[in-house]
Amino acid sequence: MDFTNLGVMRAPRHLVFGAGQRGALARHAGVFGTRALIVTDTRMARDKDFLQMRQALEAQGIATQVFDGVAAELPLSCIEAGAKAGRAAGARMIIGIGGGSCLDAAKIIGLLLSHGGAPQDYYGEYKVPGPIMPLILLPTTSGTGSEVTPVAVLDDPQRAMKIGIASPHLIPEIAICDPELTLSCPPGLTAASGADAMTHAIEAFTTLRRPADSGLSLDHVFIGKNAISDSLALEAIRLIAANLARCVSHGDDLEARSAMMLGSTLAGLAFGVAGTAAAHAIQYPVGAMTHTAHGLGVATLMPYVMAWNRPSCETDFARIGAAMGLAASGDTSRQAEAAIAAIAALFAQVGIPATIAQLGVPEDRLDEIARLALSAERLIKNNPRMLDAEGMDRIVRAAHSGDLDLLTATSPRKAALQ
Ligand SMILES: NC(=O)c1ccc[n+]([C@@H]2O[C@H](COP(=O)([O-])OP(=O)(O)OC[C@H]3O[C@@H](n4cnc5c(N)ncnc54)[C@H](O)[C@@H]3O)[C@@H](O)[C@H]2O)c1
Repeated sequence: MDFTNLGVMRAPRHLVFGAGQRGALARHAGVFGTRALIVTDTRMARDKDFLQMRQALEAQGIATQVFDGVAAELPLSCIEAGAKAGRAAGARMIIGIGGGSCLDAAKIIGLLLSHGGAPQDYYGEYKVPGPIMPLILLPTTSGTGSEVTPVAVLDDPQRAMKIGIASPHLIPEIAICDPELTLSCPPGLTAASGADAMTHAIEAFTTLRRPADSGLSLDHVFIGKNAISDSLALEAIRLIAANLARCVSHGDDLEARSAMMLGSTLAGLAFGVAGTAAAHAIQYPVGAMTHTAHGLGVATLMPYVMAWNRPSCETDFARIGAAMGLAASGDTSRQAEAAIAAIAALFAQVGIPATIAQLGVPEDRLDEIARLALSAERLIKNNPRMLDAEGMDRIVRAAHSGDLDLLTATSPRKAALQ
């Protein structure tokens, strides 16, 4: 690690991790007054752990209103309904409980209750004018890291792709990460959300490093690779590599679930400052076109993006391989190649599709995917290897055909494309 480089950390005021820690919710919430809106979905609103948390809040003297109208991948319409419920309840704090969709909904509803307007007013970076009402977030998937990140993502039918609101003001006051809340995740959800967390860690660790001028941490929400997020990302990779498959095959293994949740939260802390890059940029149009889960898309794309980035990232990829437990060979290039193969193998083992064709992308729409992905400038500018139209075209074609060779230096098809 280069200690002359900048390091930045942004995090909740309290980040509480551990089995059973949902029991701390009521006392933490007690600091913020007596009226809370709980944002969740219909599945969670019926869950026994949820009912116990609500009872504990009421016993603490906090009147709770539940909004359980969040749908997966967060359609815009959920936000309007949730904000209306929060206003009617006179909520002074928002408690989000659920997967990334519920946590992102809680962030945006809290934003609207604090500053008025509509979600569209805040799309992009730094549009949130100031602090928002206290947010407490409890994830029930080990994936998005939303409980610690400065961003919320939603699906606006007026737009071709999902859109984000990014501001440090969206980081909650309190995050409570209780791995017992993930024991009920079925294997498919465990795999997709866990692979999402792995892509966060990889993209945070390999995102472009920017010149460390004194304005960097103020001018950008996502500032690029830095000394603090590097440590968090590598530990996340180690934890996720060692535990993801175990969580998928043995969902009741609390030790593995705990390690996965710690990994996904650390990955969130890492990418919430460093940012993500091309795999996320390409998933946006892929997800919009195929209506597949965010985690599945980013994970399918990750090995192809890594293969493209390899010339700029060999040392970092070798360190990723080491974090995954691959033997050191002394040859950085080979270790980088082995790391890409190990990520692809882990994702295959947990059932992530190998190509975007398997996600439902038709071949005649690849140009559109490439064009839309390139328009996600916030993410493209973070990519460690410069990405132009030709490079993007090569990645989406490789990800569609499954031919990683399209992205390697020796490929005859690559030569033909050049
Ligand atoms: N804000 C961020 O930093 C960030 C980062 C990455 C992704 N995201 C967003 O997060 C969303 C995806 O979140 P997700 O992957 O957590 O899934 P999700 O929140 O969309 O939930 C998917 C499904 O899983 C169910 N579920 C959640 N927890 C469960 C549990 N413990 N047991 C059984 N079922 C459970 C939900 O009810 C839902 O039906 C997307 O909208 C994505 O864009 C946000």
